[in-house]
Amino acid sequence: MVPCLYSRDWVWTHLNFFVQLLLDALKFSAVSFSALARCPPSEDKVLMNTVENFALEQLNLMIESVSEIQSIHKFRSEILKAVQMVIDAMIKFSEFHSQVLDWESSGEEFNKTRPSVNHVLNVHKCVMEKLCELGTIAAKGGGGLVTILNVSWKGVFTLLQHGNVVLSSKVNVAAIILNLVSLVIEPMKCAAATWSSVMKEPVSATDARRIFLPVKFFLINAVKISCLCPCQAYLVRKEIIFCVLVISTYKVWLSNEKLLETVSEAITELLEQPCLDLVKCILNSTDLKQDLKHNIMDLLFTTERCSFPDGYPSACFMNDPMNEIFNTNCEGRNDAKILSLGRINFLLNLMKHSFDLSDDAKLLITTKLNWLLDILVQEDVYASVLLLQVPFSYFSGKTTELKWLPLLSCLLHALKTFMVAVSKNYAWLELQLFLLDNLLHPHFLCWDIVMELWCFMLRYADDNLVNGVISKLFSVMKLLASSEPVLVYSSALRKMARSITMLLTYGAHTKLNEIFEYIFIQDKSQLSTVIWVALILEGFPLNLLSEKMKNIAIQSTIRDYLSFIGNFSETSMLASSSATIGLPVFSASTTIQSMKLSTSDIDVRTLKFLLALLRSYKISGVEQAKGVCRKLISETLGIISCMKHLYAVNEMEEVILELEKLFISGPTASDALLYECKSSLAPFLAGLAHSKMTETDDNAKSCAVWELYHMLFKERHWAFIHLGLKAFGYFAARTSCEELWRFVPQNAALSYDLESGKQVSEDGFMLEFKIFLEKEMALLTVTSSSEQLELLMKEGLVLKDMLNSSLKLCGTGNECKSMEIDEGPSSRKRKLPEGLSKGMELLKNGLKVMRQGLTLLEEGHVDSRELHNKLRSHFSGLEDEIYRLGSQGGVD
Ligand SMILES: *[C@@H]1O[C@H](CO)[C@@H](O)[C@H](O)[C@H]1NC(C)=O
Ligand SMILES: *[C@@H]1O[C@H](CO)[C@@H](O)[C@H](O)[C@H]1NC(C)=O
Ligand SMILES: *[C@@H]1O[C@H](CO)[C@@H](O)[C@H](O)[C@H]1NC(C)=O
Ligand SMILES: *[C@@H]1O[C@H](CO)[C@@H](O)[C@H](O)[C@H]1NC(C)=O
Ligand SMILES: *[C@@H]1O[C@H](CO)[C@@H](O)[C@H](O)[C@H]1NC(C)=O
Repeated sequence: MVPCLYSRDWVWTHLNFFVQLLLDALKFSAVSFSALARCPPSEDKVLMNTVENFALEQLNLMIESVSEIQSIHKFRSEILKAVQMVIDAMIKFSEFHSQVLDWESSGEEFNKTRPSVNHVLNVHKCVMEKLCELGTIAAKGGGGLVTILNVSWKGVFTLLQHGNVVLSSKVNVAAIILNLVSLVIEPMKCAAATWSSVMKEPVSATDARRIFLPVKFFLINAVKISCLCPCQAYLVRKEIIFCVLVISTYKVWLSNEKLLETVSEAITELLEQPCLDLVKCILNSTDLKQDLKHNIMDLLFTTERCSFPDGYPSACFMNDPMNEIFNTNCEGRNDAKILSLGRINFLLNLMKHSFDLSDDAKLLITTKLNWLLDILVQEDVYASVLLLQVPFSYFSGKTTELKWLPLLSCLLHALKTFMVAVSKNYAWLELQLFLLDNLLHPHFLCWDIVMELWCFMLRYADDNLVNGVISKLFSVMKLLASSEPVLVYSSALRKMARSITMLLTYGAHTKLNEIFEYIFIQDKSQLSTVIWVALILEGFPLNLLSEKMKNIAIQSTIRDYLSFIGNFSETSMLASSSATIGLPVFSASTTIQSMKLSTSDIDVRTLKFLLALLRSYKISGVEQAKGVCRKLISETLGIISCMKHLYAVNEMEEVILELEKLFISGPTASDALLYECKSSLAPFLAGLAHSKMTETDDNAKSCAVWELYHMLFKERHWAFIHLGLKAFGYFAARTSCEELWRFVPQNAALSYDLESGKQVSEDGFMLEFKIFLEKEMALLTVTSSSEQLELLMKEGLVLKDMLNSSLKLCGTGNECKSMEIDEGPSSRKRKLPEGLSKGMELLKNGLKVMRQGLTLLEEGHVDSRELHNKLRSHFSGLEDEIYRLGSQGGVD
């Protein structure tokens, strides 16, 4: 231990003297700078050297005083006041010199080799670097040094502003920006670590703001300096981008944490705008070439696993989930993928605030819209976008307010805002191209988003544009109608019809009557009938038509239907292999079911038609005809289910018995493809509530009904389970039957134990049935839970796989999409590559030979039924597959 040499009083007095001296020195330097600020820079070499050295010494003294402020705590406020005076004087001095030399107006051409100029530059550089250092010390010194913090960074900016072009070539501005960026990240990291480790009660809004206010301060300074020197900011683009993305990602991540919601709100309120400005001033700069800006956009919005240099930022701080956000690097298990949502959130903000951007910058954003769709397809992003709610700031007249909205709604809002922002700009062309390119996007979420934008455009566009778009789309429809199968759900014709129906319903419903009149009344060609059926099957909104038009549509649909079934003969049907046979049935069925139409015009003829179809199905040997037949059976069952009166007709019994034979006891029972009819069988069975039944074991009709219900309940696919329950719910509520147990088999799918799938529980079915009925009544509310997130992720994965395989079928995705919407005389049907189309030819010939072989076999050996059935079902599967393959390539 050091022996105590001096008394306490002595130390105290000594310290007092020292501080007095220090204060005097600081005051002296303030006065000296003020004095220097009054005389123009000297040309004398010695004097110049002295001034430079003097400045450096004064600055060092100032920095020392501030960094040691803790040890002379008692005099803190006096010292800080003195330091502030020095800084003010220094800034005035520098301002004066730059005015004298007038380098602002002379710009780059300024002669830097003149000794006096060089001198001033040296002093400036020194002042600026020291201020930067001071600012950093003050940042780490906590709340007591706020004023120093304030003046020093303000000083840096002021000097840079005055000396801009000349000075920025001498000072490392990029390093200053980098310094600020790390001042932003560090406190966020620390706070994140604290919050994620305590997490027992909600973080208060005041706490969150206390942390983020200084962060905002550094961000704003970074913005000011970057706007002044965008080229220097460009040099540290990776760090800047990392910084804004981390903040953006952190916000989204927090919004899913109940206890940290206030933090997410505080980020939205305080940090989002400056983060955005930081990137905007680079993107909007006229000093940077467009390809450099492309580079920025590519770093911001990339699907690459990692866009940052290895190990950046390398500082590791704690072991928790936040670590992944703040320390993203390529080696981590969860790598940069975790930033995806942050990227989306950032793009969203960029679009929302794109009004004040230059035309070039808007174009840059437009080029990233495809990236957005690509990333939405990733299953984790898909799930989060649908489920997450985030704080969203919006301007309500006078003030900015905060609202929690689903991420998807925010995204749509931003996209629409962006559309308005580019509508009078050359980026508009690019945007239209994007909309056109994705009109038939194969992933439903992307398609939905694109459709929403289309509808938005049509709702607000002028009449000329709307008419132009619609007439072009319809000429594409005509082209497709002449080549694509209308009854194949995935055909380009149907996809196009789906998009058009959506556009007409939500974007241009004022045009509906006009369009209807055109295709339905004026141009009643075969093509327009096909187009009409395609539109109806895709949900054309008949209800939005005027009363008069609606009646015309319904009357004419039913008339066509009755005329078709009146002329229907089994032989003509079996002979015909046309893919468009029975169109009137399809449009009538869809119209009747969608409008819940019940009319006495539909009478016993429909039951007879169904009986004829059932007979044809039994005797037909041609798979294509059978396929058409199955579809017609299904549609007719749908029509009947809407007509209560038909259930009381005598012929109904025969229909029921025939259906029972078809599905259960007849030779067709093993036909796997009959599942195509089962979804319409369910509503048909529900309608039996309006039929009289005798509940005895020897009554053929009621036995058949029981059997049919049993079959439905034994189906294990969730969709059939749902349909079965729904049908039975309707039936049970209205029927006069009393022995409802007869409708439920011992081994209904729902009776099985969910876990093992083996044990049958007696009341399993009734229990599930009850839950189902209760759920039907309950309102559907969406709350985000990890369970739901997981389910959505699974769904997202399936959708992604589907997208993947549909793109694979098309060769390259883009080619496929643009071909489907190709228009004009040069457009032809897509051709398969040479090798494939030759193969298709051979396969088809092969099919022909096999079909002949099968018929011969059947004629020869009547006894081996089972073998025939098996062969036939394999064969028809093969036939279907080849047909599908062919329709992909337009080879018939
Ligand atoms: C710049 O100043 C130096 C020294 O005064 C002088 O020698 C040089 O010619 C000047 N250059 C120009 C381009 O004016
Ligand atoms: C920092 O300076 C600004 C103006 O330059 C002032 O409005 C603000 O109050 C200052 N903050 C502090 C903490 O001194
Ligand atoms: C971007 O640049 C345009 C034109 O160059 C200008 O009108 C606009 O104010 C700038 N916006 C921002 C945010 O700097
Ligand atoms: C058969 O079709 C013709 C038109 O092709 C139609 O005029 C006639 O009414 C139809 N027959 C029946 C019985 O509906
Ligand atoms: C999609 O296809 C590509 C190549 O065919 C494959 O590498 C990739 O793993 C597939 N993605 C999914 C999700 O199946």
